[in-house]
Amino acid sequence: MKRLTTVCALLIFFSTIYAQEKLKLSVIPEPVSMVAGEGNFEVTASTVIEAAGNDSIKKIAGDFAEKLSAASGLKLGVSGTQSSSTNKIFFTSSSDKTLGTEGYTLTVTPASVIIASKNAAGAFYAVQTLYQLLPKEINSKTAITTAKWLIPSATITDYPRFGWRGLMFDVSRHFFTKEQVKQFIDEMVPYKYNLLHLTLANDEGWRIEIKSLPKLTEVGAWRPKREGKWANTLNPDPNDPHDYGGFYTQDDIRELVKYAADRFVNILPEIDVPGHSLAAVASYPDLSCTPGAHPIYEGKPFMNWPGPVALIDNTLCPANENVYAFLDKVFTEVATLFPFQYIHMGGDECPKNFWEKSAAIKALMKKEGLKDQHEVQSYFVKRVEKIITAKKKKIIGWDEILEGGLAPSAAVMSWRGEKGGIEAASMKHEVVMSPTTFVYLDYMQSDELLEAHVYASLRLNKTYQFEPVPPGVDAKYILGGQGNLWTEQIGNMRYVQYMMWPRGLAVAESVWSPKEKKNWPNFINKVENNFDRMDVAEIKYSRGMYDAIVSAKKENGKLMAVIDKEIPDLDIYYSLDESAPDKFYSKYDKPFGLPPDVATLKVITYRNGKVAGRQINIPIKELEKRVGK
Ligand code: ACM
Repeated sequence: MKRLTTVCALLIFFSTIYAQEKLKLSVIPEPVSMVAGEGNFEVTASTVIEAAGNDSIKKIAGDFAEKLSAASGLKLGVSGTQSSSTNKIFFTSSSDKTLGTEGYTLTVTPASVIIASKNAAGAFYAVQTLYQLLPKEINSKTAITTAKWLIPSATITDYPRFGWRGLMFDVSRHFFTKEQVKQFIDEMVPYKYNLLHLTLANDEGWRIEIKSLPKLTEVGAWRPKREGKWANTLNPDPNDPHDYGGFYTQDDIRELVKYAADRFVNILPEIDVPGHSLAAVASYPDLSCTPGAHPIYEGKPFMNWPGPVALIDNTLCPANENVYAFLDKVFTEVATLFPFQYIHMGGDECPKNFWEKSAAIKALMKKEGLKDQHEVQSYFVKRVEKIITAKKKKIIGWDEILEGGLAPSAAVMSWRGEKGGIEAASMKHEVVMSPTTFVYLDYMQSDELLEAHVYASLRLNKTYQFEPVPPGVDAKYILGGQGNLWTEQIGNMRYVQYMMWPRGLAVAESVWSPKEKKNWPNFINKVENNFDRMDVAEIKYSRGMYDAIVSAKKENGKLMAVIDKEIPDLDIYYSLDESAPDKFYSKYDKPFGLPPDVATLKVITYRNGKVAGRQINIPIKELEKRVGK
């Protein structure tokens, strides 16, 4: 008995060590190479942080010292000169060509932490890795003096797979303030994203000051406030004040561009035309093919899907020369404000039903020999291409810009699956992959009975399968990939965070890490480590990965429940009698038939004997609808 107790104690001891070992080197995105060493480096009051080299590296070291000091209460500064300290963190340069412009090496031993890179970006990413190796308390805004500031010994070599590692934040459907955009940037950079795509103009709001077109923000930035369930809110009342919204002044934009650049993030501005242009035509109605006023979005649906068929004309008129003069003004100012080499012109989901009826469009088709509405849109895109390239910028658009003929220099952002990206790459055009099937972060991430309702679902394990280079495609045309957060239904930052994380972690690993380094069970461990870190940072995230996946099938006409899980070691329990299941209820092990008089299937998940996921209550009528889905 005594021997058994000793064996048990040893097992617990070693499994604890193993668990620590597992967590010790938890880095998202997974580095190219990471080898654990012996022991730890401990940050103490006598730790010296040294940065010779250029001013950017000194600034990175200074910001690191500041964050570490704030979280630890230790007063750490940065020294420019070499010291003989036996406990130092130092930044140095590397001539290793494999690191490229964004790579780094990080060598941690009990005596020192050495960060080596060719460029400042590499040093910045090394610091992001270092934060994940430090205890989670590094994310605390107030000093936690009780923590031990250990960094596990390791040798890391790391550089990105793709140069375009993006997140799209739609600030048009709901306006998010300049401070909130900065917060979004702060929350993406720990995972080595380097591109923020801002949707600045769409149907529901125009968000950027264009000095030569003041009505865009006097009119187009404001609408009546609607709360409640998305797409089910009250119809407009003419007396509703148009006071919900906002926009960024040009000074705001410059501030955001600098804030992002200081964190090695480029901002890609999107002005979505010729569809999704209700805010523009509300501001300047003569830009439409359809005469009369075009009220800014007031809450009621104005498009029928699929189609799309517009109920009110939300498009710019390709047959109107004033439209090109308007776009020239817009893109002149946009090009001056954003140093990034690309400008996104949208191009998606443009309804053609109003164009079909327009005499001006018919005349344009005749004059230019355009045989259908796709060619009308292609004519428009090619005119926009000329405007944008005249500003010394490159044009990028959603994959609809392929329809009717792709503009010669345009890059394509593939969103309707991978098809558009494959086609564009085969035509030797640059491509950014952002398919709905893997990276639409506005989709529900768990059972629709548990989530705020959106029309589609995308769970974490599916996002983790995102592979930016589809089979058979020449990788040299794939600039990279990005996750997209549309905000039709998302009006506050807590909800933004909930939709972003942890799926944003999965996208980050898909665009940074070597494909062969991706590993789902390891990723889940790291996600959980990051949940702890997000708790300290007070960032909201979804725990949807712990919820059961409930579907159904029919066998010999009988309805069967089929239950699955994302995490291998979850246990699933269920009830059929309306009571709340716990771990003493029936345990799911295979699909089972539902007696005809059962009204509700209730399901819950446990892990290691503790509740893990949320309870899902599925009316049998609802379950029937899931057959074959
Ligand atoms: C899109 O999601 N309409 C690009």
